[in-house]
Amino acid sequence: MAHASSYKPTWAIAKWFDVRLPVMRMMHDQLQVYPTPRNLNYLWTFGGILTFFLAVQMMTGIVLAMHYVPHESMAFDSVEHIMRNVNWGWLLRYMHSNGASMFFLAVYIHIARGMYYGSYKAPREILWILGVFIFLAMMATSFMGYSLVWGQMSFWAVTVITNLFSSLDAIVSGLGTAIVQWIWGGFAVGNPTLNRLYSLHYLLPFVIVGLVALHIWALHVPGNNNPAGIDVKLKSDTIPFHPYYTLKDGFALCVFVILFMAFVFYAPNYLGHPDNYIEANPLQTPPHIVPEWYFLPFYAILRAIPDKLFGVIAFVSSISVLLFLPWLDTSKVKSARYRPIYKWFFALFVIDTVALGYLGAQPAEGVFLLYSRICTAYYFLHLLVVLPVVGLIEKPTAMPGSITDDVLGKGSGSGRPARATASPERR
Ligand code: HEM
Repeated sequence: MAHASSYKPTWAIAKWFDVRLPVMRMMHDQLQVYPTPRNLNYLWTFGGILTFFLAVQMMTGIVLAMHYVPHESMAFDSVEHIMRNVNWGWLLRYMHSNGASMFFLAVYIHIARGMYYGSYKAPREILWILGVFIFLAMMATSFMGYSLVWGQMSFWAVTVITNLFSSLDAIVSGLGTAIVQWIWGGFAVGNPTLNRLYSLHYLLPFVIVGLVALHIWALHVPGNNNPAGIDVKLKSDTIPFHPYYTLKDGFALCVFVILFMAFVFYAPNYLGHPDNYIEANPLQTPPHIVPEWYFLPFYAILRAIPDKLFGVIAFVSSISVLLFLPWLDTSKVKSARYRPIYKWFFALFVIDTVALGYLGAQPAEGVFLLYSRICTAYYFLHLLVVLPVVGLIEKPTAMPGSITDDVLGKGSGSGRPARATASPERR
């Protein structure tokens, strides 16, 4: 939201700096006095949590890289060396591996929040599209990071996923195989593959940082959406970001970090696969190759389709379709709180995605395959049919006249009683 700067440097050095590089002005305007809707709930704290985990991943990763050896005959042992010999190496590694899981847990909540409250709708389409690109970059980064351990699951996950490109052979004979061998740097997954995955795993987080900067820029132009999904109209609709949301974000972060630490200290391998403690063996394929939990819904979609090429198309489409949500959703009302039909379909979509996650971890046969197909069908049906059609036929419930009214519980169609507290200024 464009607002006149209220930054007034007092110190001479601050004044000197301000006319040359107004970085303090930018921080003051965008992080301190930035007018933020006063009705944001805890689901709005996940952007900050994500920023924190991006920093955790980069800091722990940089130190891990000082001890890790990207060679097919030393990678696995170097990870064990980090765990046993490097001072605090076990903590660094467990923070990095569980940090990735926390990062994905937070991003799924962040995405679901955006979908429930219609945060992708005009004028926030670019913000959303940048988010989808961040998600893709996160997936690529974690996939590459997992391969570096060079355990059985690392090795076979790389083999399965890189082999997906071979499905292009069905379009141009030999094209897919050529691409796969180019990615591998040879005729099988091996040392050249490990080296390039390592290089890209180090590079991509910096690309994510750039994308996050654009993401937040694109957020601060239109300003935040909010649980009521209505625009800021009155001055009383907003409060300064600091101290109100720095405190709220800080509190939520502390709670989330407790969960993170519970995994790191009490169940550090719970989210991983035991087979990844067996060194990669190209001569022995594990009976079930499963990716990390956060890829399971997409893995289930991939395996639900009997044809390899169409499976890959469904897999790619399941993520790329998200890019078009701003245009697939025809509803004039943003927040699902006032959408009596859509909110149930949304709940079904969440259940469907969780079910896909469960099915992705099961063997692709019998009843699991049948359920995977049903859930895959609903996944696409929801995004391509339910979203456009329900938006056209549904009659929204009564909405509050302003964000201030929403906070005070006035005129809300949600039937919630008025809140006991008034505005923070009056408290
Ligand atoms: C590294 C990953 C990410 C970081 C650090 C990040 C950061 C942020 C931050 C700080 C905010 C403002 C606070 C908040 O609304 O929670 C935000 C808002 C938003 N993000 Fe993200 N984000 C990430 C990934 C994503 C992804 C993957 C998507 C969607 C595919 C997404 C979509 C959005 C949307 C739509 C908003 C606007 C929220 C609103 O005001 O309603 N973000 N993000």
